[in-house]
Amino acid sequence: GDEEDLQPRPPVVSVMGHVDHGKTKLLDAIRGENVAAREAGGITQHIGAYQVSTEVDGEERKITFIDTPGHEAFTAMRARGAQLTDIAVLVVAADDGVMPQTIEALNHAKAAGVPIVVAVNKIDLPDADPAKVRGQLTEYGLVPEEYGGDTMFVDISAKARLNLDDLLEAIVLTADATLDLRANPNQAAQGVTVEAHLDKGRGPVATVLVQRGTLKVGDSIVVGPAYGRVRAMLDEHGQQVDKALPSRPVLVLGLSSVPRAGDNFLVVPDDRVARQIAEKREA
Ligand code: GTP
Ligand code: NA
Ligand code: MG
Repeated sequence: GDEEDLQPRPPVVSVMGHVDHGKTKLLDAIRGENVAAREAGGITQHIGAYQVSTEVDGEERKITFIDTPGHEAFTAMRARGAQLTDIAVLVVAADDGVMPQTIEALNHAKAAGVPIVVAVNKIDLPDADPAKVRGQLTEYGLVPEEYGGDTMFVDISAKARLNLDDLLEAIVLTADATLDLRANPNQAAQGVTVEAHLDKGRGPVATVLVQRGTLKVGDSIVVGPAYGRVRAMLDEHGQQVDKALPSRPVLVLGLSSVPRAGDNFLVVPDDRVARQIAEKREA
């Protein structure tokens, strides 16, 4: 693609942190407020990643969340050369404070060069001490903006659904301040597999994140060792969509087999080419 085809794309976010500090609860709370409530039937399709909208400075902005166990997915994908995360949300429980896996997650994000937003969670608890979390993380080089640093900290409660909009805003502001997120939607699509499995009725299904180009129903696609024609695509609402732009996660139907998380995908001119590339990869 040409330089002039580059267009803004939403940030892709992974949630990381120590065990039981509230990663899943947070992902559910964000999805619950922003996705399920807007669905016709209220049934959330679990596709391993989802996109939400939030308003920042009067403008509607999208954020893509990777909804698989952050740490593992992040590490596994990086090990295979795939980097899909633009921003890491580091969840720290305000009662527990910084713990070993908090530091591990922090180091993974730093090694990948990914900016961090800190979500100080569980502030609904009586023994929550968000100031202590700020002090602890400052020692590891994550200095809060209010202390003159450049890391945004947001006090939240995933359980009580407190300040979740502030967290979404912090993600967008961090992306705007530190990253230039652009992709060309006008090219053959490429991206990464987030998760995949064999569905009883639908056959191999894969959640893919489009990173460049626009993925369309009918495209011939190679996904790791799998290939096929995109028969249908579903979003996190379970709604069929006919195209997916950069940073959009979609569930893809029509593959020959089940790819692995971290497998790259690309759209090729026709089915014959797709099969040839897939067979070469398999060999
Ligand atoms: P692992 O995936 O096992 O590492 O844990 P996790 O980080 O996903 O934590 P999870 O979301 O499962 O939450 C752990 C426990 O903390 C659960 O019992 C949650 O209900 C509780 N929890 C999460 N967020 C909050 C919160 O904001 N306030 C309170 N009081 N409890 C919370
Ligand atoms: Na847990
Ligand atoms: Mg969890």
